[in-house]
Amino acid sequence: MKSFGHKGVGLRPPHYKDILSNPSSVDWCEVISENYMDTGGRPLSTLLKVREMLPIALHGVSLNIGSSDVLNRDYLKNLKLLVEGIEPFIVSDHLCWTGIEKRNWHDLLPLPMNESTVDSLVSRIDQVQETLGRRIALENISTYVRFQSDELDEADFIRLVVERADCDLLLDVNNVFVNSVNHNFDPYEYLKKMPADRVVQYHLAGHTDKGDFLFDTHDAEVSDPVWDLFQFTWNKIGARPFLIEWDDKIPEFERLVQEVEKANEMTKGLRAEKEYAI
Ligand SMILES: [Fe+2]
Repeated sequence: MKSFGHKGVGLRPPHYKDILSNPSSVDWCEVISENYMDTGGRPLSTLLKVREMLPIALHGVSLNIGSSDVLNRDYLKNLKLLVEGIEPFIVSDHLCWTGIEKRNWHDLLPLPMNESTVDSLVSRIDQVQETLGRRIALENISTYVRFQSDELDEADFIRLVVERADCDLLLDVNNVFVNSVNHNFDPYEYLKKMPADRVVQYHLAGHTDKGDFLFDTHDAEVSDPVWDLFQFTWNKIGARPFLIEWDDKIPEFERLVQEVEKANEMTKGLRAEKEYAI
């Protein structure tokens, strides 16, 4: 088992050169799985070069784990091939649905939070983990609507899913804050309910205040209330690899690294339960 630091960034094409020429500026990288699946060329060859220098987390956006469609076997086959080639320390996707009747809507859509959704998710996560031969992590998404058929609050729903499915949790601290404003709950109480032993990674990102709701835009620096929540999370749940998501209005690599270093500074002096190891 090898330990590494916590500082991560998303590997995006504008930063390929920067990462390759200065890999020690971060401790690991996360990539969007679909951008490297079923494809060759520059993206995959770049990823393989980065992989020689840094641990990689694979983060998917099309697993469609919450859909009522049968699981897409071709997608899983391609994901498995990528996992075998990259040997990532985390394979993750989102606790959501992204399409139905074989149509991908390219959006992370919310699920009704009730027992029947949990039952469906547990069965489908089991099939994915069986197929990949490893655990996956699912991420809490930002949402803008709730369903009348909701029976559970979001924190209870997430906890139930990851515990019953025996999978891991990618905890997006910005999404917790965005949802706390959009759906009027206490984000600190939410974080207290998170199953610490299942959390394998944190996401941080910027959002946009649209007046009567917060929009998860990933196009700005992390906001002050999210930094406060991050420090609370670090204390409560422990030290985990963290990532700044900056996917729109992507800044210069130096600016992104500054934001990662800011997060790193904030964790100093806080209780760190354990190092993450691969
Ligand atoms: Fe995220």
